[in-house]
Amino acid sequence: MYQILKKRVLTPQTKLVVVRAPYVAEKAEPGQFVIVRVREEGERIPLTIADYSREEGTITLVFQEVGLTTKLLGLLEEGDAILDLVGPLGIPAQLPEAGVVVAVGGGVGVAPIYPKCKEMTKRGVRVISIIGARSQELLILEDEMREVSEELHVCTDDGSKGFHGFVSEKLKELLTAGLKPDEVIAVGPLPMMRATCEVTKPFGIKTWVSMNPIMVDGTGMCGACRVTVGGETKFCCVDGPMFDGHLVDWAEAIRRANMYRDEERIALERCAGCGGEKHV
Ligand code: FES
Repeated sequence: MYQILKKRVLTPQTKLVVVRAPYVAEKAEPGQFVIVRVREEGERIPLTIADYSREEGTITLVFQEVGLTTKLLGLLEEGDAILDLVGPLGIPAQLPEAGVVVAVGGGVGVAPIYPKCKEMTKRGVRVISIIGARSQELLILEDEMREVSEELHVCTDDGSKGFHGFVSEKLKELLTAGLKPDEVIAVGPLPMMRATCEVTKPFGIKTWVSMNPIMVDGTGMCGACRVTVGGETKFCCVDGPMFDGHLVDWAEAIRRANMYRDEERIALERCAGCGGEKHV
């Protein structure tokens, strides 16, 4: 069992938990993820490792309550435990040692961007970050991101804080004004990552995205997490989760992400009264 040592409510639907997982913390690198199961008969979901401490033997997970499993996870409090957790999985992000990188994080995608910025800043890379959310109350990890960025731009769709518009629009503004990053890293909802790639393509800037498809085993055997990249089928869990965004088949990825929307709704409706049932 993986005990929750600390819990923070970042927004009404986004939670941060620090979990005791010494073996995972020992090996974790930016860009990797874990697969968790909240209850015996529950599904397995991938969650990016948002931070880790080898000294304390902990990993930090940030999740948005969108489906039944994340809602059940959100009910766990400090002192409770996650039933099981496997990782670190996936290929660590190939982060540069120098130069200028623009890190773009949308919504809960700011969490996976954070450890990458932290590591790049440690290496001496100039990190310019753009983070965004629908509105000010939904922005997460702003202070943490400021600490690991040379420059931080905050965007909200409704204009309640910072730049009024999408992160991709802010990026376009900076590039048009003459910013020339060596690469861009974007993490967030699929439409946001696609829009970011559309912005960087005409400028010829290498753009990495972090895909987060449905996963089952997380070890390359089931095929649930497949994405098409450069015309080839890749398994996100073993070949990713970072890919060259200019080569991703976005239409297919978006279609696949919505495949189980009805089942998810039914599961949530069936469990409408499960508010008190934590797990097992
Ligand atoms: S989750 Fe099964 S192959 Fe990736």
